[in-house]
Amino acid sequence: MKNTFKVAVDGPAGSGKSSISKLAARRLGIKYIDSGAIYRAITLYFLEKSGGSFDSCDASLLGDSFSISQKFTEDGTTYTYLNERDVSNDIRSETVVKNISKISDNRQIREFVNSLLRRWAEEESVIMDGRDIGTVVFPDADVKLYIDASADVRADRRVKEYASMGKTVDVNDIKNQIIIRDDQDRSRGFGALKQADDAVYVDTSFLTKDEVLEKIVQIIKDNAKGI
Ligand code: DC
Repeated sequence: MKNTFKVAVDGPAGSGKSSISKLAARRLGIKYIDSGAIYRAITLYFLEKSGGSFDSCDASLLGDSFSISQKFTEDGTTYTYLNERDVSNDIRSETVVKNISKISDNRQIREFVNSLLRRWAEEESVIMDGRDIGTVVFPDADVKLYIDASADVRADRRVKEYASMGKTVDVNDIKNQIIIRDDQDRSRGFGALKQADDAVYVDTSFLTKDEVLEKIVQIIKDNAKGI
C-alpha cells in the first residue's frame, strides 16, 4: 500500500493559512485542497440560481444539479470549477462573502462538503485548509496545524492586499469585518472554527511568510510518516 499522509490546517480568515499551505504543498510535492473555496462555490451556485439573493437553500439539490471540482497546478495555483465552469475569481467576491454563512451554517451542506473533501483526499498525500479539517473532516490527520494571527495584523495584511490592487479601504472597517467573521466561524453549531487538541499552534503575527513556511514544513516532516 502507498504511504500517504494528511495535513490538516485550520485557522481564522486572513491568518495566511491558504498561501502557506499552497507553498508547503509545492515544497513537499503533494496536493493542496482549499475547502473554503467549496463553500464559496456553493454560495455562488445558490446566488446565481436565486437571481442574486436567497434566504435558505435546499441542500438536496446538490447531488443532482451540481458538480464541483478543484485543480492544484504545478505552479501552485488552485482553480475551482462549478459545473465545469472556472469560478476561481467569482467566488472571491464580496457578495459571496456576505452570503456564505447561510451555506456554511447548513448541516446537510457541511456533510456534503465533508464527504467530497474526504473523497478527494483518498489515496494521496494532501494538505487541506479550512476551519474544521483537524476536528471534523480528518480527525485522524497525521499532522494538524492551527495557524493564527491577531485581528490587527490580519486587517493590516488585508489593507495591503487591497492596496496592491489599487483599492483604498479603511483599516477599522476591515478589522470589524474580520471580528464578525471570526465570531460567525467560532459560533457555528457544527464544524465551528476550533483548534484541535492535538494541533500545533502557529502564530504568524510577527513572522515573515518564509519563516512560517520553514516552520510548518519542519513540523510536517517531523510528524508525517512516509515523507
Ligand atoms: O477560507 P475561506 O475564507 O475561503 O472560507 C470561506 C468561508 O467558508 C468562511 O466564511 C468559513 C467557511 N468555511 C467553513 O465553514 N469550513 C471550512 N472548512 C472552510 C471554510
